[in-house]
Amino acid sequence: MTLRDAAVAVRENAHAPYSNFKVGAAIRGVSGRVYAGCNVENVAYPEGTCAEAGAIAAMVAAGEKELTEVYVVAGSPAPVPPCGGCRQKLAEFGQGHVTVTMATTGGAEEATTIAALLPGAFDAGHMEGS
Ligand code: THU
Repeated sequence: MTLRDAAVAVRENAHAPYSNFKVGAAIRGVSGRVYAGCNVENVAYPEGTCAEAGAIAAMVAAGEKELTEVYVVAGSPAPVPPCGGCRQKLAEFGQGHVTVTMATTGGAEEATTIAALLPGAFDAGHMEGS
């Protein structure tokens, strides 16, 4: 299954009754396995989680800690970029050169990298010598 197929399929399971904006994400672990996640909203709005967070949680739960590819799909007219929190979450498990493909259900795609999405990222090195 391609990352797109996995992301499009899992998007159908999104729980998005408040925004009506379903998102699907699929990531490839360094093993080659694919992990998928969808957004899961909550009536207490800040408790909702993004599709990317769900996919990352699935990867970590399966015992993997490194991702090599990311694909995010939404039903919007233009590809949707990950939110700030998800950029930080992706940077935790993926190197800067990792490709993040943002896509629409209609088939439009836009590719970027984790580094481009999160310039000046805070990382463990910033805590050294404190
Ligand atoms: N959302 C994601 O799941 N991923 C993104 O990259 C952008 C936004 C979700 C969060 C919320 O459930 C809905 O889209 C509207 O913000």
